[in-house]
Amino acid sequence: MQKFLIHGGKKLNGTINVECAKNAYLPILASTILCEEEIVLKNCPDFTDIKNMIIILENLGITVYKKDDELHINGAEASFCFIPSELAKVLRSSIFALGALLGRFKKAKVAYPGGCDIGLRPIDLHLKGLKDLGVKIVECHGYINCDASEMKGGLVHLDYPSVGATENLIMAGVLNSGTTTIVNCAKEPEIVDLQNFLNNLGAKITGAGTDTIVITGVKKLHGGSWTPISDRIIAGTFLIATAMAGGEVEICNVIPQHFSSLIDKLQKSGCKIEQKDDKIFVVCNSRLESVGFLETMPYPGFPTDLQAQMLALQTVCKGSSLIQENLFETRFKFVPELIKMGANVKVNQRTAYINGVDKLFGADVYSTDLRGGVALVLAGLCAQGYTTVHDIYHIDRGYAFIEKTLSSLGANIQRID
Ligand code: UD1
Repeated sequence: MQKFLIHGGKKLNGTINVECAKNAYLPILASTILCEEEIVLKNCPDFTDIKNMIIILENLGITVYKKDDELHINGAEASFCFIPSELAKVLRSSIFALGALLGRFKKAKVAYPGGCDIGLRPIDLHLKGLKDLGVKIVECHGYINCDASEMKGGLVHLDYPSVGATENLIMAGVLNSGTTTIVNCAKEPEIVDLQNFLNNLGAKITGAGTDTIVITGVKKLHGGSWTPISDRIIAGTFLIATAMAGGEVEICNVIPQHFSSLIDKLQKSGCKIEQKDDKIFVVCNSRLESVGFLETMPYPGFPTDLQAQMLALQTVCKGSSLIQENLFETRFKFVPELIKMGANVKVNQRTAYINGVDKLFGADVYSTDLRGGVALVLAGLCAQGYTTVHDIYHIDRGYAFIEKTLSSLGANIQRID
């Protein structure tokens, strides 16, 4: 098992580029199942989750090859509509393939998805939405068997604005007969990107980014190329890294309005942040004020995927804060690891109470999930002494060789076997 060895205390200085968003790339990859012509996806990032989604596509009979950083995808020969549990369990986003498989083949058998252990993560909203469109679903022995031969347009009212359910239903609607309307849908920028990508291939989707999406079914999609949007969570992670370690960092290829909820909080805590076009410049040379109160919410609220990093920052801020996690029940699993480093945090169900300390100290800590793992890396950057972060395969799911990017900024971090 690989781990990171970090010698804390180095300030971060320099310029970095942010990759395309994992959470945009994954649904876009799944949606390529709908198309029988070649699609080229540019700037493919080196994340394990993306490699695993490619394996799922290949297993369906889709040809995928990588040329430099471009993915060439051809679904002309796709013939299977089955995702076995050994592939589904490594990736929550395997469930996105369901809507696309039903759109293309009108039937599918997929295993329940896996992914980060951050809560129950049910898929009832995905299945209820598909049933509302006329899909017959039988759940049996860990598999979801779907018959969409009678699927047709209709109205789906989501009880909660789930990102995955919204994306799955968009994919189910693209080649569906009639008009599919999704009400109370999620508004995340990655959903807008999925809409724009599919429209670029000939789909007719409107409304992404608002709470109602309307999909007018088309007969088929044509090929095309696309560059998915940049990763707001990675951009936010490096902003927080600079806030914790101190220094001056320019972050390029970002869309600042996609993470304005974070920028606002960091500025109020004392960070100097300037935005220009697709760049953001952060300067932090003193201890920050604590955030006070923060709660995670669906977009445009504060993202749950930045909660762990923001909590790590609060452990070294002046004063105390209260963070409430509203989306996932068990997303504080990394906190006991931070406490090993000297953090003063108490967790009660979905609420964490943090009293800032002057300093964290290096320790042996274990990643519990993707964002919790990266929060420990950030803590290690500002801790006194050496920190070893174990189980970094969690971090590799959504960050491409993060140690290289941090080293380029002057951090002392190495990947070791
Ligand atoms: C996506 C993101 C993930 C992010 C999350 C919330 C991807 C690949 N992943 O995950 O990084 O943390 O949005 O911004 O884009 N829920 C149900 N029933 C369902 C579906 C969801 O109860 O059928 C609940 C979940 O348990 C959770 C909430 O809805 O409490 C939000 O989940 P959802 O928006 O669906 O997140 P994901 O699409 O899994």
